[in-house]
Amino acid sequence: MNILILGSGGREHALAWKVKQSPKCEKLFVGPGNAGTKDLANNVELNVNDFNSIAAFCLQEKIELLIVGPEDPLVNGIKDFFKKDEALKNILLIGPDAKSAQLEGSKDFSKDFMSEFGIPTAAHKSFTNDNVAAGQAFLETLNPPYVLKADGLAAGKGVLILEDLNKAKRELAEMLSGKFGAASSKVVIEEYLDGIEFSVFVLTNGKEYKILPVAKDYKRIGEGDKGLNTGGMGAISPVAFVDEALMKKVEEKVILPTVKGIEKRGMDYTGFVFIGLTKVNNEPYVIEYNVRMGDPETEVVMPRIKSDFVDLLLAAGSNNLNSMDLEIDPRFATTVMTVSKGYPEAYEKGKEITGLDQQMESIVFHAGTKNEGDKIKTNGGRVLAFTSYGPSKEMALLHSYESIQKVNFEGMCYREDIGFDL
Ligand code: AMP
Ligand code: GLY
Repeated sequence: MNILILGSGGREHALAWKVKQSPKCEKLFVGPGNAGTKDLANNVELNVNDFNSIAAFCLQEKIELLIVGPEDPLVNGIKDFFKKDEALKNILLIGPDAKSAQLEGSKDFSKDFMSEFGIPTAAHKSFTNDNVAAGQAFLETLNPPYVLKADGLAAGKGVLILEDLNKAKRELAEMLSGKFGAASSKVVIEEYLDGIEFSVFVLTNGKEYKILPVAKDYKRIGEGDKGLNTGGMGAISPVAFVDEALMKKVEEKVILPTVKGIEKRGMDYTGFVFIGLTKVNNEPYVIEYNVRMGDPETEVVMPRIKSDFVDLLLAAGSNNLNSMDLEIDPRFATTVMTVSKGYPEAYEKGKEITGLDQQMESIVFHAGTKNEGDKIKTNGGRVLAFTSYGPSKEMALLHSYESIQKVNFEGMCYREDIGFDL
């Protein structure tokens, strides 16, 4: 069958790498893709939010499976767009409809969902511009640090964690008067959870589910997990502190009620649920839902799935997921992200990348790269993810760091402590 993956990052390269291994995959397209996806698929110049062009392309190329990488088109209703069109509705689209994508697109929606279905999460209240004073009074009842979250999508910048009560009160007022535009016209204030975070991925159709390998990502730019938040500087799978007993709790207290909730609310959801969790006193709490795979988690999750991934997606689409075996590679997988100097703030693009043709023990997933003539150049903040396997986390990391030494571009930065804190 012909398959289209939407997106252009390391996540999409890793998805393409895995999908391509399926004997069911005939023609594989990635739109818009990057220099890495170009090596194994056909890149198509598509804007992920231009549904008319995507639809026309799907019809032209007889696409039967469409995997939506990022959240934006999902929140903007790509599923709804395909569903209402006779010619498109039989394409299996991996991703929820717009209403269900509010699980990621609105913190208030997701908190309400968690409350309704008894899913453990931080205590919270939501406030709008007409009750700033009530929000400030609520802050006074909490202990520091104070967690303020813009309700809507704010490109990963909408969460503030503040030690000082007065600063928190000021920030609340600023957020409600438009600091993050419409995204912060509503603000969720929640209790601070002092725990260690991990990422759980579930493939579901709202009735059945499969739990994909667990991962941990490293969000901060600096070593020791200090400095600004990024999209993610590296990831590992499996995660030592997420043992079988904890995963059992995650399944019973979080995954089962989440899938039940999706079914009970009649949500149209065939796709991934990415559950950001934190472990507090050996109990799992949900920090957030995302309606897509994580990046760079996908760069370690896909390599650990041994089963045919296209078969799994087709089974999700035809209510056959329970009949499938999900075979997981017992080895450790690690990925280390190289980024442009300055990221996650201003950075330059267009730097030539050298050394990619060298023999190495890693799979190099491209995140922000492009072809220019016969050269490959940087095209984003996150540039290349070096994924490796090993019989231990340490061995896998050694391979990732060895491979990085062979590659270069001006201003290349990376964290040297991915995976070492656990
Ligand atoms: P979110 O966008 O909800 O994932 O929040 C971004 C980051 O803020 C998370 O990955 C956590 O590191 C942190 N965070 C969010 N909510 C809380 C909370 N209630 N307690 C502690 N840290 C949090
Ligand atoms: N790595 C976190 C995310 O994809 O949101």
